[in-house]
Parts: sequence; C-alpha cells; structure tokens
Amino acid sequence: MKTVLALETSCDETAAAVVRDRTVLSNIVASQIDIHRRYGGVVPEVASRAHVENLGAVVEAALQEAEVTWGDIDGVASTCAPGLVGALMVGVTAGKTLAMLHDKPFLGIHHLEGHIYASYLSQPELQPPYLCLLVSGGHTSLIHVQDCGRYEMLGKTRDDAAGEAFDKVARLLELGYPGGPVIDKLAALGDRTAFKLPEGNISLPGGGIHPYDSSFSGLKTAVLRLVQSLKDDGVDPLPINDLCASFQETVAKGLTKRTMRCAQDYGLTTIAIGGGVAANSGLRQHLAAAAAATGLTVLFPPLKYCTDNAAMIGCAAADHLERGHQSGFQLGTRSRMDLAEVMTLYA
Ligand code: KG4
Ligand code: ZN
Repeated sequence: MKTVLALETSCDETAAAVVRDRTVLSNIVASQIDIHRRYGGVVPEVASRAHVENLGAVVEAALQEAEVTWGDIDGVASTCAPGLVGALMVGVTAGKTLAMLHDKPFLGIHHLEGHIYASYLSQPELQPPYLCLLVSGGHTSLIHVQDCGRYEMLGKTRDDAAGEAFDKVARLLELGYPGGPVIDKLAALGDRTAFKLPEGNISLPGGGIHPYDSSFSGLKTAVLRLVQSLKDDGVDPLPINDLCASFQETVAKGLTKRTMRCAQDYGLTTIAIGGGVAANSGLRQHLAAAAAATGLTVLFPPLKYCTDNAAMIGCAAADHLERGHQSGFQLGTRSRMDLAEVMTLYA
C-alpha cells in the first residue's frame, strides 16, 4: 500500500490530493474557470500566477482533509507533462521541494496516464487490458491500456480535441466559456436531427476512412457556415438549441463509432472513458447504447474524476511507486510528450 500526496497544475485547475493505492483520502480542486472566462479561454501566464497563489492552501487542505501527517506519506507526485509549461513548473517545483524537505521519493506523472487512472478510483477492481477513450479540452485519444506505464495510442484527433470543438462552437454561438457544459444543457432542449453535419472522419489517400482517428476542425467550420447561411436567410433568432443538439449528436455518434470499432478490432471488452467531455450526456447515451448492443462494458468515472484533478495523478503515482519507480530531482516539464514515453520519467 502506498500513500501519495499528488499535485496537478497542468492547465487551469490547481489541485492536490492524498491517495492510498486506489482510495481517495482527499481531493481538493481550486478551479480558475472564473478568472479565465473573461478572456474566453485559458491565458497561460494568468494560470501560472494563480497556481502560485493557490497551491499552498490547496496542499494544506488536502493533507488536513485526509487526516494524514508527513509520516504517513510514502511519496510526492506532480503532473510534469504534457500541459502549459509555466503552469506545470509550479506543481513540479512545489512537489520536488516538499519531497526534498520531507525526504520522500518524487514522481513526475504524465497527465494522460492520470486521466487513465481516474477509472480505478471508482472501479478499483478494473485491470488491464482495456480501451480508454480520453476526451478532454486537449485530447481525443483511443488508448490500449496494457499495464502500468505501457500504453499504445490507437487513435487520436488530427486537429482540434473534442472539448476544444465544444469550446469553439460555443464561442461562435456566443455561449461563453467553457463550451461543453452549456452546449450539453441547450442540446437537451433541441432537435438533434435538425441539421446534418460532417462526423469528423479522416479520409485515407487510398479511399475509405481511418477507423479510429478524428478531425473536428471541419465540423466546427461546417457549424460556422451553417450559422452564416441561416443569418443570410434572415433567420432570427438563431435556432441555438437545435444547433447545439445537432452538433453534440454528430460528435457523440462519430466518437462512439470509432471507439466501438477499435474495441472490437483489438478484442477489448472493457472501455473506460476519461476527460472532461466524458460528462457529455449525448456521448454517454450513445456509448451506453452501443455497448449494451454488443455486450461490451463501458465505465464512466464520476465527473469529479473525469475533469482535471490530483486524485487521478496520485493513483497513477501510487502504482508506479509500488513498482519501485521514482523520478530524479532533475526532472523537468514538457508541453508535449507521447504516452509511449511515460517510463522515461523514471530513472
Ligand atoms: O479534462 P478537462 O477538465 O481538461 C483538460 O484536460 O482539457 O476537460 C475540459 C473540457 C472543456 O473543453 C469542456 O468544454 C469540456 O471538457 N466539457 C464538456 C462537458 N463538460 C466539460 N464537453 C461536453 N459536454 C460536457 N458536459
Ligand atoms: Zn486533463
């Protein structure tokens, strides 16, 4: 059993948690959404400064709520890649400092591995192999989870991530930031068959489509053109609910098709969903229906573990620590890093 204090500062949530193997002892998240909303998206420099201001109190709260002392902590972990470098640096510097001060091992954790581990927090009995569909503001990935630190990326987006598409479409419909939750809410009031939109498939040079990769920038442009033509036709007010419902339906259907095909092709019977877009009700409905029809199991972690948090980082760190993995204090941060490189984080 390993007990880890984990820090997550890769984007706009300042988070700390204490995790014992797959059990969450505390999970504190200070969201910066209200700060970034006025700019319509995350401003990196503003994010770094807010992490510096908030991290001390967030760590203190995580230790207090877990009712642990430093004597109970076996290691300290920080998200070190991928993400906003300045933001990551705050968590990594704080994590290393605490580890040095209290003479504990330090572990850098890959943010996407953290999202994968979120599934274990609500399903402690889950074991690899399985397929993880990771859909967030920065990623749209189909990952074959083989073991701790062993991942094969089977599908990805060629341009915008799914959450980014929600955010961009919300912006062009003037619905504010972040776009996912508001589109989801308005979609429930609209007709999802109102408009036909492209599903974001990737055409292959030799004909046919890529079975697992997505492209969402064309879908966003299609919504833009549709809005323009509705305006040109004098449609006022715009059918916002129908636009949201049709857009969401298109994303959900496309992702579901690719995910199911991937699971079946690789003989994987369990699909775990992660990332902020896992909250989307359209995606949940489509995946649940497709899984029921094919006998596959789909796991949706609770929302608090789908969006960025430190508990998922702590869960990954506890597993690495159990296997004797730890990072050197010279470990840096990286804005980009393939999931296949995870094991290079451990000396
Ligand atoms: O995983 P996350 O918290 O942060 C990243 O690592 O990116 O995901 C945030 C993304 C945002 O793009 C947000 O619009 C999207 O998740 N999101 C949703 C919903 N809730 C959050 N997208 C669709 N439907 C939702 N209900
Ligand atoms: Zn994330």
